[in-house]
Amino acid sequence: MTSAPVFTQQIPDTAARGVEFISLSHLNPSTELNPVPTRGIDLGYFREYVRALEDGGYDYTLLPYGSNSADSFVVASAVGQLTERIKPIVALRPNTTFPLVAAQKLATLDQLTEGRAVVHLISGGSDAEQARQGDYLPKDRRYARTAEYIDLLRRAWGERAPFGHEGEFYRFDDFGPGFAPHGDTIPISIGGQSDQAFQVGGERADVFSFWGEPLDDLRGEIERVHAIARAAGRTVLPRIWVTFRPIVAETDELAWRKAHEYVARIGDTFAKSAYGKQVHHRHAPQNVGSQRALSFAERSELYDRALWTRTAAVTNAAGASTALVGSPETVAAAILDYVDRGADLVSIRGYDTLADAVDYGKHVLPLVRQELAHRAATGTRGRLQAEHLGNYGEDYRRFAEAGR
Ligand SMILES: Cc1cc2nc3c(=O)[nH]c(=O)nc-3n(C[C@H](O)[C@H](O)[C@H](O)COP(=O)(O)O)c2cc1C
Repeated sequence: MTSAPVFTQQIPDTAARGVEFISLSHLNPSTELNPVPTRGIDLGYFREYVRALEDGGYDYTLLPYGSNSADSFVVASAVGQLTERIKPIVALRPNTTFPLVAAQKLATLDQLTEGRAVVHLISGGSDAEQARQGDYLPKDRRYARTAEYIDLLRRAWGERAPFGHEGEFYRFDDFGPGFAPHGDTIPISIGGQSDQAFQVGGERADVFSFWGEPLDDLRGEIERVHAIARAAGRTVLPRIWVTFRPIVAETDELAWRKAHEYVARIGDTFAKSAYGKQVHHRHAPQNVGSQRALSFAERSELYDRALWTRTAAVTNAAGASTALVGSPETVAAAILDYVDRGADLVSIRGYDTLADAVDYGKHVLPLVRQELAHRAATGTRGRLQAEHLGNYGEDYRRFAEAGR
């Protein structure tokens, strides 16, 4: 059992100075809690969702990609037109789009949104899923391809004179100058936790992303990616993105009750769905990110102030699955614990998707921002982390453990 750390006024050396918020966009009201039959995009819902993110003060929204999902580029373009400020992050698998075409599409999105485009490169975590769209490369080669892809995206956006290329994966002649982005370039993020993901992300990405991990483990991973970046001679290190599925209620105790109710429903959904087979047979995921989430879940159900892994266990950690459980104050304090470890992009998406997006915007984001404003003004930490201990306090740990 973890004893409560002492939260002094001193801001840790590892702390990020600011934080920006991300949330994945949902296209319809179907959720793991309440699956409803759907034909895909419910335009009214989608409009309401992205506007709720914009009004709630989020900075970015991720448009995910799968072989059976809506196309992330087209959806990102719609986000751009439905909002004024929020930045669409296009999840892109290199196998689906020739790099110069991706550069052109991203530059078009960037101009259509006056500089808001971001790309999140997915090298592919499952051989079977990659094969569905004709990609038969093994994972280490897929990451080598991603490295060449990133270099070509940057050249396509930056070079003013025509150029040719003959690499391991791509070849072309006399390209350029290409269609330019609105600004100088477009931020490139990497998803993945395998050794190759670290190598490519540390050497080349602007952002490196994680699913929620215990604080000490995440800090170790941040050091790893930054060490690779430094060894590559980079002076600007990749920003760190960490993802959670918060379960929030008025008090910690109510949040824990909600969490136990939710996990029963989510487990039920997964047992009945196509994923059910995987969960049932404990099919081991091929991607390291999910493997890590499952091994944390096996080690313990609770970590640190508010991290809960049972949601990962019942879903076989398919996609972002680790929860932060507590009152808005506790969850905001838990997010600040990650900011203190160096995370400066925090992605939060609930299990009750639209209602949660609105609630976090009203009750969680302002608390985090208020604390960071306090730090900027005074050079010291405020009281939030010291006063809202969540699982560091004995009562709630006992309550949560009794609920097993
Ligand atoms: C924040 C985040 C978002 C992700 N979004 C997607 C996605 O939209 N589509 C997808 O197939 N994989 C997505 N992934 C999964 C991984 O990027 C993918 O499995 C990875 O390329 C290979 O896994 P590995 O390096 O962890 O083994 C995401 C991962 C993270 C951390």
